[in-house]
Amino acid sequence: MEKTLSIIKPDGVKKGLIGEVIKRFETNGIKIAAMKLIEMTKEKAKGFYTVHSKRPFFESLTDFMSSGPCVVMILEGENVIEKNRKLMGATNYKEAEQGTIRYDFATDIEKNVVHGSDAPDTAAFEMGYFFADIDLL
Ligand code: CMP
Repeated sequence: MEKTLSIIKPDGVKKGLIGEVIKRFETNGIKIAAMKLIEMTKEKAKGFYTVHSKRPFFESLTDFMSSGPCVVMILEGENVIEKNRKLMGATNYKEAEQGTIRYDFATDIEKNVVHGSDAPDTAAFEMGYFFADIDLL
């Protein structure tokens, strides 16, 4: 069983999409192994997105990610990294396939409702950034 980190971003929480996103995971055979509602400080958001620190959108992205509550989750299932990325759709919602979370709900490339780890090494870092082993079922 593979694990990955999912975040419902501040725009998703503000729009009342927590239930909708979780429903999509559960109806696609993905289990939730850990979950919490958090509000990131700017510093916490910067640490999470440190790989993007040289990108022009870093300041705006970390402002946005620390602008309100997020839901952070560890998802579990077979091939869940890839499965979650398919359910989310492309980062740029304009390129996302119909029926994906971002196609249905994102409003711009930054406010794209959800985040999901893109590979096993980033998943390990990202899960450890928010959860201690003791928080895992
Ligand atoms: P996410 O999957 O969380 O990974 C990095 C985030 O940076 C991405 O979703 C977007 O929210 C944001 N992002 C990526 N590319 C751009 C861009 N060109 N302009 C603004 N934000 C971006």
